[in-house]
Amino acid sequence: MFDKELIKRFETLDTPFYYYDIQLLRETLSRLKSAVDKYGYCVHYAVKANANPRILQEISSFGFGADCVSGNEVLRALECGFPADKVVFAGVGKSDTEIEIGIKNNIFCFNVESLQELEVINKIAGQNGKTASVALRLNPGIDAHTNKCINTGLADSKFGIDFNQMEATITFAQKLSNIKLIGIHFHIGSQILDKEPYRLLCQRSNEMQEKLSLMGLDLPEINLGGGLGIDYDDPDKNPVPDFESLMDLIHANLDVKDRQRVHFEFGRAIVAQCGTMVAKTLYIKPASQTTFAIVDAGFTDLIRPALYGAHHKIENLTSHYAQKDKYDIVGPICESTDVFDTGITLPKTVRGDLIAFRSAGAYGEIMASRYNLRNLPNVYYSDN
Ligand code: LLP
Repeated sequence: MFDKELIKRFETLDTPFYYYDIQLLRETLSRLKSAVDKYGYCVHYAVKANANPRILQEISSFGFGADCVSGNEVLRALECGFPADKVVFAGVGKSDTEIEIGIKNNIFCFNVESLQELEVINKIAGQNGKTASVALRLNPGIDAHTNKCINTGLADSKFGIDFNQMEATITFAQKLSNIKLIGIHFHIGSQILDKEPYRLLCQRSNEMQEKLSLMGLDLPEINLGGGLGIDYDDPDKNPVPDFESLMDLIHANLDVKDRQRVHFEFGRAIVAQCGTMVAKTLYIKPASQTTFAIVDAGFTDLIRPALYGAHHKIENLTSHYAQKDKYDIVGPICESTDVFDTGITLPKTVRGDLIAFRSAGAYGEIMASRYNLRNLPNVYYSDN
């Protein structure tokens, strides 16, 4: 993926840094657009995956909406060109101030996760002389077969309203004068590569629709959340996720009524592959069991391996050696979990070599911290 010219450019930049391939982002967005346009589905980009303004502007320019999980994300999305009537606000613990931000800005929809939250939104909407549109987030009780840290649709997860409490919650919502119930919302997890959980999700949604019909309710919006996974092992082989086959599967399995709209909230699938984190090798330290390559990026720059045991493909971009060796790739932070990977084979690596951590565009830069009072990583783009 990285040609000689680009690596030369990398050698002039201050490490560690995130590099975004804007061409690849655009290609991903246009593939997504044609996959969803085929069925008239709507996409709200999950801003949590990457809230970099440049990235957000690219995404909004394709006409997609935004899925936000904080008042600040709502404000950032609006600043970066997402129209308010395409902004959804999700999250299990929205504060009063955050709800007010959504209401004052006339966002499209609140994805609501509890009965008490409905009461609070109703009150704040009333105080502002407005009606808030809401979708109820249902916990579908589906195992998405993904990393346990990011599996959100199980019955014991804190997210969503229990399936059994749904009817009572709907009845309650209908009594609130500043709430307009417009839909149902689900999210089963993240980095989902298996299609079966999505088929089950369609079944759950269909069951729910039947229940709603029996209650005499015809809600115009169905939101199936995000979650589509990407190829962390071979990003060059699969730079763009297979949106087409997921949309075909949804179309074949989901009951959609006349005038009903179907929404998705993809984050990772849109931005992961266009981002790479690049670090510089500081020291090579042989030890009894392994050889450490100590780089100048740590979990403050890319936390996914330390937090979830996640795997990013690691490449040495500048080695001149044919010889290969095994390394543990570690960062400089004073914590033993500051390890990117262990026992990986790389061309012989020496001080000064540039190391790329691939597929880092989602939940990378945005999760960076200043622990140890480190600087935040730098950011560069392919087109400037
Ligand atoms: N919608 C809801 C309600 C969500 O909770 C999430 C992600 C998304 C959409 C976007 O999901 P995506 O399409 O990106 O899978 N930091 C973790 C991932 C956390 C995902 C949380 N929810 C990671 O680095 O793997």
